[in-house]
Amino acid sequence: MLDVRNVSASYGAIQALQNVSLQVPRGEIVALLGSNGAGKSTTLNAISHLIEPSAGEIRFDGELISRAPSDDIVRRGLVQVPEGREVFKDMSVRENLELGAFLRKSARKEIADDFERVYTMFPRLKERSEQRASTLSGGEQQMLAIGRALMARPRMILLDEPSMGLSPLLVEQIFEIIQRLNREQGLTILVVEQDVRLALRVSTYAYILENGEMNLHGASKDLLNDPAVRRAYLGV
Ligand SMILES: Nc1ncnc2c1ncn2[C@@H]1O[C@H](COP(=O)(O)OP(=O)(O)O)[C@@H](O)[C@H]1O
Ligand SMILES: [Mg+2]
Repeated sequence: MLDVRNVSASYGAIQALQNVSLQVPRGEIVALLGSNGAGKSTTLNAISHLIEPSAGEIRFDGELISRAPSDDIVRRGLVQVPEGREVFKDMSVRENLELGAFLRKSARKEIADDFERVYTMFPRLKERSEQRASTLSGGEQQMLAIGRALMARPRMILLDEPSMGLSPLLVEQIFEIIQRLNREQGLTILVVEQDVRLALRVSTYAYILENGEMNLHGASKDLLNDPAVRRAYLGV
């Protein structure tokens, strides 16, 4: 469903990505791993065309999207949940969700259905729909950021460190939701995660970036048992 080929990107003189390739099959959860500064967010931002890659090609559903504007990419059904959630703190939960449906403003009935779907998935957001987003806990803000992405009716989402700053219990809850979205709604997911063990447990396939280059990749269950991965990333 997503095919990233030989993508490079830089910020001025800093080369952030070099020849990065990855594939995400339809209906699967794929993990993108690597330490701080490895280029994970840059990879997602290149896919969403929030930054301009200097080389490479990106295809979604077989169509070239690397030159498409980012709103067009959202319209095609590929939606990013940014690092640090980036919800609009002064707006209510409901208003934040409405913004997720911004590109489909005309379809009132559909949007009402989507509110129902998101509120069923996240009852906590329903209870707090008129509350300002700034008053939500970190975990609730992450739910809101995911809910906002779902309002765009995505077929695939890019999740950038959904567990950042959350307690272990909340991380478990967020990942349960991620797995449910995949299982129950068939959502294809590319998830960036620092907790390598957790990410390998929930994904079918994983890629590990190091210094802007793809260091290794493989089926998640193989990586979990790979001695080199266990030494370098799992502290075993
Ligand atoms: N806006 C920016 N301007 C300059 N350098 C950046 C910018 N964003 C990221 N970088 C650099 O690019 C590299 C990759 O960053 P990033 O993709 O954010 O890593 P990760 O998400 O894996 O932690 C890092 O060296 C980082 O310092
Ligand atoms: Mg990042």
